[in-house]
Amino acid sequence: MLETKPEPATAGIDSKQTTVGSVFVSNYPPYSTWNDDAVPNVHYSLSEKPRPDATLGLYMHIPFCRKRCKFCYFRVYTDKNSSEIDTYLNALAKEIELYSQQPAITGRPLRFVYFGGGTPSYISVKHLITLVDRVKKVMPWNATEEVAFECEPGTLTKKKLEAIKSIGVTRLSLGVENLNDEILAENGRAHLSKEVYRIAPWIQELAFDQVNIDLISGMIGETWESWRDTVQKTIELDPDSITVYQLELPFNTVYSKDILGGDSLPVADWKLKREWHQYAFEQFEKSGYEISSAYTVLKKDKPCQFVYRDAVWQGSDMIGTGVASFSHLSGIHFQNAPSWGDYLGNLEDNKLPIYRALKPTEEERLTREMILQLKLGRIKPSYFKAKFDADILSKYADAYEKLQNDGMLRVNVDADEIQLTQRGLLQVDSLLPTFYAPEYQNTRYT
Ligand SMILES: C[S@@+](CC[C@H](N)C(=O)[O-])C[C@H]1O[C@@H](n2cnc3c(N)ncnc32)[C@H](O)[C@@H]1O
Ligand code: SF4
Repeated sequence: MLETKPEPATAGIDSKQTTVGSVFVSNYPPYSTWNDDAVPNVHYSLSEKPRPDATLGLYMHIPFCRKRCKFCYFRVYTDKNSSEIDTYLNALAKEIELYSQQPAITGRPLRFVYFGGGTPSYISVKHLITLVDRVKKVMPWNATEEVAFECEPGTLTKKKLEAIKSIGVTRLSLGVENLNDEILAENGRAHLSKEVYRIAPWIQELAFDQVNIDLISGMIGETWESWRDTVQKTIELDPDSITVYQLELPFNTVYSKDILGGDSLPVADWKLKREWHQYAFEQFEKSGYEISSAYTVLKKDKPCQFVYRDAVWQGSDMIGTGVASFSHLSGIHFQNAPSWGDYLGNLEDNKLPIYRALKPTEEERLTREMILQLKLGRIKPSYFKAKFDADILSKYADAYEKLQNDGMLRVNVDADEIQLTQRGLLQVDSLLPTFYAPEYQNTRYT
């Protein structure tokens, strides 16, 4: 039985206010349906040869941060000392070594590598190099299309950036979030704007293939004036790619707990956050960027891609390593133990720390890919025909018709295209539950 605490990510309710609950749809079926009964399927698929045409990626979760941002819902620790970080990184390397010995993984080239968090840039140069040396011995990444690395600006030094470049990072992503110091401080960010300007020349000098800046529309304290200023200053920083998230408040954030505890917080409503998002995209487009998904714009005159995002949304195999990380292999979803002790304990016993899984049906895999790719703003029915032998136009006809009537998307059969309108793109996550099977609607998402 599913726990029935609907969240926007399963209920498709377009609430006006920013209420507590997950909004961002990163997977399907909802995580709350994954369970330990399905874990043997994962071990079985690891013991089998991979599907012949499947590509493989590696995600490493580095769950440390200087401070917990009050809006953040990721699995992070702010109280671990250097020796605990050492223990964790040893376990992470061991996990990757164990994977490399599995028949489904052995000898396969990596198409992409992603250092996510938490804050990968929090760990020391020594820790980073030791981890990478060990991982590259068993899963080399000399021929990958992309190595992405998330950074919190205040953790970067020139030496650290040089080390990050030296391990082969091609996409450096900076959590800038906002360029107003009062807003950064109010939301519990560890960095202030001066730290962004301190690192910018070094990043430019090191000439990373791609630099991305993350912004959040709707941080506490934002006004039209401060947002316009942040957007302008972001353009002046001249990144290759800019990602805008609308602030959401899943259950486990500091702000959500305050709200559930009875505090009233001045959180912008969804209409205003979308207006800010739209304004930012319009300014970015005027400054030479083009929209590449509901969240991301890319510089027009510089060929850029985001391999990790596109591969994950196309159902690529990806081994997610580290505490609480998510993986997808041979058609099965699974997640690692979400607690520090369980994660490390399993690896001490030389066991992969897999804790819950789900083997989706073919139909669920189709729905997953279709809704995730809708976040790109347009999809091609012929892609799904070729991959799943499915006619999505008839299969989801009612949902497309409803969204078309609501002004959220346009179906152009002759052009082989389903395209979100600008309105639809700005609220795409709230539209996706329309496509869920009835048993997954109005449930807990995470
Ligand atoms: C893992 S963090 C990026 C690296 C680093 N930890 C940092 O914050 O600088 C990923 C991104 O998620 C976004 N994010 C985190 N919590 C969010 C929330 N509640 N709503 C919207 N975006 C959020 C932020 O833009 C953040 O940069
Ligand atoms: S937003 Fe980034 S820096 Fe802040 S707590 Fe989350 S992972 Fe850490």
